[in-house]
Amino acid sequence: MSKVFFSDDGSTAVEAALKLAYEFARRSGRSRKPKFLSLAGAYHGDTIGAVALGHVDLFHRRFSGLLFKTDEVMAPYCYRCPFNRARPEREDAREYRKCAWECVGEVERKLVSQKKRGAPYSGFVFEPLMQGAAGMIPQPAGWLPQVTDIARSHGALLIADEVMTGFGRTGTLQFQISNLKSQILFACHQEGVQPDFLCVAKGMTGGYLPMAATLTTQEIFDAFLGEHEDFKTFFHGHSYTANQLGAAASLASLELLQSAASARARHQLQQTMRLELRRLWSLPHVGDIRQVGLIAGVELVRDWRTREPFDLPERAGIRVCEAMARRGVLTRPIGNVIVLMPPYCTTQQQLRRMVEALHVSIAEVTQGKRPSRTFHF
Ligand SMILES: Cc1ncc(COP(=O)(O)O)c(C=O)c1O
Repeated sequence: MSKVFFSDDGSTAVEAALKLAYEFARRSGRSRKPKFLSLAGAYHGDTIGAVALGHVDLFHRRFSGLLFKTDEVMAPYCYRCPFNRARPEREDAREYRKCAWECVGEVERKLVSQKKRGAPYSGFVFEPLMQGAAGMIPQPAGWLPQVTDIARSHGALLIADEVMTGFGRTGTLQFQISNLKSQILFACHQEGVQPDFLCVAKGMTGGYLPMAATLTTQEIFDAFLGEHEDFKTFFHGHSYTANQLGAAASLASLELLQSAASARARHQLQQTMRLELRRLWSLPHVGDIRQVGLIAGVELVRDWRTREPFDLPERAGIRVCEAMARRGVLTRPIGNVIVLMPPYCTTQQQLRRMVEALHVSIAEVTQGKRPSRTFHF
């Protein structure tokens, strides 16, 4: 990924990747009318191209008249997967699932049938390791390398949206290359996948200033080179793309992020989060707890034995978040999934408080229990 297009937000990072892939597919003769495949429940931003790639009715349906057609394919959601034959356990559903990777088969079927029509997909767009706005839905280990291999073998460019997952969010592995300690900062790389486009934003400045980037390969870049009169330029840019203050904040944030002390602290936070979250299994209305690095989603259900969800009018997720806010912890629900994404500067003690606030808030809202501890913020 030697070529970088700097911009200013996640939607633009995706939009630029989409336009580059579209143009590359046409210029390289791969397709005259490029078509894209993305995952069920996908959210890639709010600009029109990114919306067209999305499959969340709540955000996207009302704009359908403005959008170009993309296809969607099944994403893994082990907890509610129709192919998972395991009965619910008090454990992350990825760990006890019983299936034959039917979700990978679904992706393959889609790619094959499109190819048979003589118009293979030009791009496969995905959030690696965890789909965020879809409801913090993690992928079981091994899913990503399988589907990306298949997509590539059918001619699709791989477009990884790491707007949420990038810069260490999904866990940081350290490895040695001739004594040089290095970190894996991207979710794709944790699964050994190298995409053709990598879209990043949020974590680039630690969330402080607008800055984003679309990374790609020399081969794709070269398709946009030519003589002036060829007009092969990538015609895309906003007044504030590659903003200087954003760039300075990114450099400062990256320096911190890549320090050994930061990697250690994040690793410890991740372990603490795992340990603390385990205690939530004692609550009967917690159906699934899914953590990837420093992202966690806790799915609330009426009955964990049947996975029966709460009804929308009950506003279970919203009420739990309101109860947490009263205890000084601000987070958001996605339906009945409570999201925890602590900033990297969070201390161990603060993280314990966050999970404790979540614990007592769920108990209070779902079982009418009074909080057992008083908090001092
Ligand atoms: C996976 C993903 N892609 C794209 C976006 C869009 O980013 P932005 O809000 O910076 O435009 C988001 C934002 O939440 C996201 O989570």
